[in-house]
Amino acid sequence: MTTIGFIGAGRIGSQLARLAVRHGYDVVLANSRGPESLAPLIEELGPSARSATAEEAAEAGDLVVVSLPVRAIGDVPAAPLAGKAVIDTGNYYPQRDGVIAELEDESLTVAELLQRHAPRSHVVKAFNHITAPDLTADASPAATPGRRALTVAGNDDTARARVAAFIDDIGFDVVDLGPLAEGWRVQRDTPVYGVRLDADGVCAAVAAAKRHLHI
Ligand SMILES: NC(=O)c1ccc[n+]([C@@H]2O[C@H](COP(=O)([O-])OP(=O)(O)OC[C@H]3O[C@@H](n4cnc5c(N)ncnc54)[C@H](OP(=O)(O)O)[C@@H]3O)[C@@H](O)[C@H]2O)c1
Repeated sequence: MTTIGFIGAGRIGSQLARLAVRHGYDVVLANSRGPESLAPLIEELGPSARSATAEEAAEAGDLVVVSLPVRAIGDVPAAPLAGKAVIDTGNYYPQRDGVIAELEDESLTVAELLQRHAPRSHVVKAFNHITAPDLTADASPAATPGRRALTVAGNDDTARARVAAFIDDIGFDVVDLGPLAEGWRVQRDTPVYGVRLDADGVCAAVAAAKRHLHI
């Protein structure tokens, strides 16, 4: 049994938790307002779910999902994530997150910011280019014709493979982008962003991606 820790249990975190529970995972969820505020979600998810502090969710997870506004990355507890595969779902919206210089000049990607904050963890970019409702609507068993594909990017091969196996298990084909720095290919406003594509379609879309901000 694998436990998935969630730091951030909003639209994408909660929907991913629903999907994970459906596929037999235990989930431990944390938000900014404290464990009690997650009681309705925990009740909905059932006995495989519990709420916790962010520190506890990071400790409990064999795999940890960080699904926060990018401005909150600095609050993620880094020490308990050491050695773990950590999924970053974040997208940068300066109107929401404030202006972050490294993201404005594209010297770093969002996931690289998290990797810098938690340097002993193995950050894998995933789930940022699918909307929360589509996570449950588009999930389908392996070998379903036209199965939707999602991407992974990360510097650690084992962590990337682990996250890819999780994604396949919960309902999607996987396209491996390689290192974390390649995550820009699926960031906001790229061809794959929010679009339902199978693996061939995702490969074509990421190949066509252009960096879109100031470069
Ligand atoms: N919504 C989508 O369809 C979607 C799809 C792909 C990627 N994304 C990206 O994924 C990230 C999360 O998006 P979302 O739509 O799920 O956001 P959301 O609905 O606003 O949820 C954010 C979650 O993060 C928690 N949080 C905020 N600050 C925190 C902190 N300092 N410590 C712990 N928890 C904190 C919030 O807790 P409280 O509610 O208690 O404040 C909430 O549970 C964003 O970067 C977004 O751009 C979103």
